[in-house]
Amino acid sequence: MGQLMQLVDPIMDRAMAPGQGATKNRTPEKPQYDTDFTTRVIAATGSKAHPRLAEIMPSLLRHLHDFAREVGLTVAEWASAIDLINACGKMSDDRRNETQLLCDILGLESLVDEITSKKLATSTTETPSAILGPFYRNDAPLLPNGSSVVHNLTPSVPWYNQAVADSAYVTGRVLSCASGGGARTPLRNAIVDVWHTAPNGLYEQQDTDQPEMNLRGRFATDADGRYSLYCLRPVAYPIPDDGPAGQLLALLDRHPWRPGHIHFIVSAAGHRSLTTQIFDSRDEYINNDSVFAVKEELIVKFVPREGDPKAKWALEYDFVLGPMQEEVEETDQSAAFL
Ligand code: BEZ
Ligand code: FE
Repeated sequence: MGQLMQLVDPIMDRAMAPGQGATKNRTPEKPQYDTDFTTRVIAATGSKAHPRLAEIMPSLLRHLHDFAREVGLTVAEWASAIDLINACGKMSDDRRNETQLLCDILGLESLVDEITSKKLATSTTETPSAILGPFYRNDAPLLPNGSSVVHNLTPSVPWYNQAVADSAYVTGRVLSCASGGGARTPLRNAIVDVWHTAPNGLYEQQDTDQPEMNLRGRFATDADGRYSLYCLRPVAYPIPDDGPAGQLLALLDRHPWRPGHIHFIVSAAGHRSLTTQIFDSRDEYINNDSVFAVKEELIVKFVPREGDPKAKWALEYDFVLGPMQEEVEETDQSAAFL
């Protein structure tokens, strides 16, 4: 047996459904379940059901029931999963959303983000989106182009040396692909809202030692569609893993780290707002994000910057926005079920 198969074999053994050879020593007899059961559950939906729920629930129920049958889910296992979801709910409040974090580590938020943005996109030239994450604040200060989001950085700050070594000038344009045919036109007065962690891996609201709104700012593009700011090269940080989502990561033998990234929300009149992140190519977790948000087009290379006492690194990154599609977006709004 090859080395890889020796590694994979025990995992495959655990992953196989009953009757597929999962239990080598037991008779692989497949239990017979009520063949009508799922159909009856689906049929219980009434004629006045919420239209979108009526459309999607049959598929959800089929996948859910098939999953339970396929893995032979037991009452004890199901109760344990219920405990996990309840624990997420109990831990959640308006400062921490553990249920969302659970979805993040399962890749669900990144997947629905991709589905939603592809439903709305009109062109493949639009900059890909990435998840918002839980650390956005919507009232970051509007700063002049060319200013810094790094505040009160003095040698007494524990991560001062790293901040100096990672000081960066980031600039680029906000462009529209609304006119079609591959053309991109600069958007004046677009807002580039940016936020990232300090070199200690903490956002300012997680860290009482950072000044209010540190490493956050909004920048309006000039007549050429250009924005510019000073910030820091981002560092890898672990997502909060002191709750049930962290417990699940540990049970799955997974790490909580995200590769260094800078968050953006880019908005402009007549265009769909873009929520995204850019990822530093140097990061050791670039191919191993705990929330699966990295996309090839969002990986960037900072280059050394010469002759600027405020920045050791530079990055040029353009954002391409697509046109607003009111009809489609209104339909999406009606998805707020509760
Ligand atoms: C973040 O990038 O800020 C983030 C995303 C998902 C879960 C936790 C943090
Ligand atoms: Fe983040």
